[in-house]
Amino acid sequence: MLIAIPDLLSDAEVGEIRGIIDAGEWIDGNATSGHQSALAKRNEQLPEDSDAANRAGRLILDALNRSPLFFASALPLRIFPPLFNRYGEGQEFDTHVDNAIRLRRGSDFRIRSDLSITVFLESAEDYDGGELLVEDHYGVQRVKLPAGHAVIYPSSSLHRVTPITRGRRVASFFWLQSMVRDAEKRRTLFDLDRAVQRLTGDLGGKDRSVIELTGIYHNLLRLWADS
Ligand code: NI
Repeated sequence: MLIAIPDLLSDAEVGEIRGIIDAGEWIDGNATSGHQSALAKRNEQLPEDSDAANRAGRLILDALNRSPLFFASALPLRIFPPLFNRYGEGQEFDTHVDNAIRLRRGSDFRIRSDLSITVFLESAEDYDGGELLVEDHYGVQRVKLPAGHAVIYPSSSLHRVTPITRGRRVASFFWLQSMVRDAEKRRTLFDLDRAVQRLTGDLGGKDRSVIELTGIYHNLLRLWADS
């Protein structure tokens, strides 16, 4: 399942993040790649321990923490510190899978990658190509969102970024380990949460059925979540 998070960042936040990362020192994206990715990837990346990546990454994490849609859909347990990449004309990231386990260099931080996230940081009108193509059971999903919007997709999927034919694509990307490992259970909780939110709006939070359904949501979360 792919979930779009519209307006995760305001225009001002995108501008602030771009101000930080554009002034950073970019390196070949293959500095962090595994063998298979290194064959497929042609882009630039901010070093993951750089001051620019840390500062801009904190702004992204703050925005995620404010997003009920992000929390309800991902049920995050641990989030990898956001990384940043950019693709110029002719650059791309051919079909690949993301590593199951992600380690943060020089630390004992490690996560299982359940979900991958891309936060778009360039106006979609300002570049051609650079679409994120995600293969899922319904076929290939094409994703290219306005600056400040994010997409969450399964780390288990085959995916790629198509070649840039004009301009430059700038994005943040990272992974998270969900409290709920099983994608079907996570989706069921998300669907239930949305239905309960809608019912709460229609009937009010004191309605007996709303209270009981809210209890069922939390009881399922207790059954299925690691924390
Ligand atoms: Ni990937």
